[in-house]
Amino acid sequence: MSRRALVTGGAGFIGSHVSDLLLSRGYHVDIVDNLSSGKRENVPAGATLHVADIGSPEAAALVRGGSYDVLCHLAAQIDVRKSVNDPMFDATINIVGTLNLLEAVRASGHPTRVIFSSTGGAIYGDFVTVPTVESMPKDPESPYGIAKLSVEYYLGYYARIHGLDTVALRYSNVYGPRQDPHGEAGVVAIFCNRILKGEALTVFGAGLQTRDYVYAGDVARANLAAAEAQLPKPAQLDVRAYNVGTGVQTSVLELAAALQSGAGSTVAVHNAPARPGEQQRSCVNIEKAQRELGWRPEMSLADGTLRTFEFFARKHRGDSA
Ligand SMILES: NC(=O)c1ccc[n+]([C@@H]2O[C@H](COP(=O)([O-])OP(=O)(O)OC[C@H]3O[C@@H](n4cnc5c(N)ncnc54)[C@H](O)[C@@H]3O)[C@@H](O)[C@H]2O)c1
Repeated sequence: MSRRALVTGGAGFIGSHVSDLLLSRGYHVDIVDNLSSGKRENVPAGATLHVADIGSPEAAALVRGGSYDVLCHLAAQIDVRKSVNDPMFDATINIVGTLNLLEAVRASGHPTRVIFSSTGGAIYGDFVTVPTVESMPKDPESPYGIAKLSVEYYLGYYARIHGLDTVALRYSNVYGPRQDPHGEAGVVAIFCNRILKGEALTVFGAGLQTRDYVYAGDVARANLAAAEAQLPKPAQLDVRAYNVGTGVQTSVLELAAALQSGAGSTVAVHNAPARPGEQQRSCVNIEKAQRELGWRPEMSLADGTLRTFEFFARKHRGDSA
């Protein structure tokens, strides 16, 4: 019998890649998504979409009755600035909505492995060594990061007290086809669209800030690996957390150059004043995921940015046709 997966946020950017991969591996895939930013067109054929909020009784009932082997939880309010402007809205979805799902897993009594989409970009802060290892101190600088870290504590609690099988994957900056310009690696989508319109690329400050750009297909493979790996028991009071990135820092200027060269573009690059408080360096160490999940990223930045650009170019041609 095929393994059963529930993907929350499966109509979104990363969740649709996770759903594609699970389907290709023979999983039965159900999706819960309220379509607040996700799109029906992202839902792969073969998956069943349930339009519901993760905080709703409908979503809880689905989890309780679904006998899922794996719950890939990606649905979230992903906009860091929105979390700053409205922390209650952010917490209602990202903390309380997640608790609704965890309580449903607990009530189901089914041994569902819960794989939570956490963040490496928004919980470590600026005062850690890069590439950052999982055990380094956390210093989230936004309600979004605080909510993700809070859920990690809940995952540790549910594992310890209720015996749930929980894992947190801390993604770095994820990019790829179908990405949303408001997400943590939104700059890739923004640059692609500007190149397509022949508009200059804006970099803030000197453009030397670094990020760790990981391709969405590689993040989907990390979810599959986390779904299937035999994992060690979590340490006392600890969640099983794995960084999912590349371990490579790329500056905004390098990213712009990679996209321009793939696209054969020569649009200008303009400097705008540095944004106060912007994190200067962010990059995760991925040795733990390599060791325990048997996962490593496969896509190079050159190929990944080219595929992403081609996706936006097709969309652009469709939009202007
Ligand atoms: N994109 C990145 O670089 C990045 C980095 C780190 C972590 N993450 C995490 O990965 C996950 C997926 O992010 P993404 O970039 O694919 O974003 P996305 O906005 O494309 O996907 C999120 C999906 O969740 C759905 N959703 C939002 N609120 C919901 C709710 N209350 N109930 C049901 N569905 C809801 C949206 O409609 C959307 O389809 C998120 O948890 C995000 O925090 C993303």
